[in-house]
Amino acid sequence: MHEIIEQLAAQAGEALAAADSRETLAVFWQEYLSKNGKVSGLMKQLRNVAPEERPAAGKIINEFKQKLTADYEAAAERINAAELAARNAAEAVDITLPAKRRALGALHPITLVKNQIIDTFAGMGFEVFEGPEIEDDDHNFTRLNVPKNHPARDMQDTFYLAEDIVLRTHTSPGQIRVMDSKNPPIKVLVPGRVFRSDSDATHSPMFHQMEGLVVDKRITLCDLQGMLDKFVQALFGPEVKTRLRPSYFPFTEPSVEVDVSCFECGGKGCPLCKHTGWIEVLGGGIVHHNVLKNCGIDPEEYSGLAFGIGIERIAMLRYGINNIGLLFENDLRFLKQFRE
Ligand code: PHE
Repeated sequence: MHEIIEQLAAQAGEALAAADSRETLAVFWQEYLSKNGKVSGLMKQLRNVAPEERPAAGKIINEFKQKLTADYEAAAERINAAELAARNAAEAVDITLPAKRRALGALHPITLVKNQIIDTFAGMGFEVFEGPEIEDDDHNFTRLNVPKNHPARDMQDTFYLAEDIVLRTHTSPGQIRVMDSKNPPIKVLVPGRVFRSDSDATHSPMFHQMEGLVVDKRITLCDLQGMLDKFVQALFGPEVKTRLRPSYFPFTEPSVEVDVSCFECGGKGCPLCKHTGWIEVLGGGIVHHNVLKNCGIDPEEYSGLAFGIGIERIAMLRYGINNIGLLFENDLRFLKQFRE
C-alpha cells in the first residue's frame, strides 16, 4: 500500500506542478480527487488489506488525501493569481501618455462680422429682429414701394418659389414686419440670409445682410451719417470717414450709397480702392413716405432712416478676402485663420 501511495503521490505531484490553467487543474481534480478519482480508488482497495492492518492503512490514505487536497488548493491559488496578473497587465493604462486633444471650434468670419455689427449698433440702442427667409411678394416688394411691373424689380434677380412667394432678395421686408408689429420709436437691426440668382467672385446666390431701421420724430439723413460714421470707425479704425453719394432705391427717398475712406491707403489711392480713395460699403436712405403709410405710420408725424449692409462685403474688406466662395467652402485651412 505504501508503495502504491508513494507512486501515486509522485505522479500527482508532477501533474499539479504541470497544471497552468483552470482547465488543466480541473482535469487534475477529476483524475485524483473526485468521487471516481484515484484517491477514492485507494479507499476501495482497503478491502484487500488484511483486517488488522486496515486502520493504519486507512489513516495513511486519509493523510495522503488531505495533503493532496491542500496541494491542489495551493495550486489553484497560484493559477488564479497568475491569471489575474496577466489580465491586469493586458488591461493596464499608461496614465503618463498625453491625453487626446479635442479640436477647438471657432466662429465663422460671417458670424464674427455679424456679431461686431450688432455690438456696435446695440451700443446705440438698437434691438435685433429676425424675419423669414421665405417671403411673400407683398413684404419683399409691393409694400416696400416696388409694385408689380416696376422696373426696380429687375435690380434683384429673384428666386420665385411660387407665383407670389420668393426667397427674400434682401432683409428690407424686415422693415415692414417690424413696423407692422411695433409703434415708433423704432430702432432695429434685421440680420439674415438673402438670395439672388447671381454668382461670381464677389456675388453668391446666398449671402447675408444686416438691415437697420430707425423711425422716430424728425429723423434725418444727418442721423444716418452720424450712426454710420460710428459704425465704420468701429469696424475699420477711428481715422476712417464716410461719404454719401446720391443713389436710388424704391423704398428710400433720398437714397444714398455710403463710401468709407480707404483704410488701406488712407485715401491716397491703391488697388483695394481702385485708386479712388473710397470704398463702397452699404446703401441706405430716408424711408419713403409710401413705405411708412403702407405700415400705418403717419409720414407727417414720423420719419425714418434705413440702411442695408452686406455682411460678406464687410468681411471680405476687413480680412482681405478676394473671393466670396471661400466663405462658403468651409475649408478648415481657411476658417482656422479667424480663430480669435
Ligand atoms: N435692400 C437694399 C439692397 O439689398 C439695401 C437698402 C436697405 C437700401 C435699406 C436702402 C435702405 O440692395
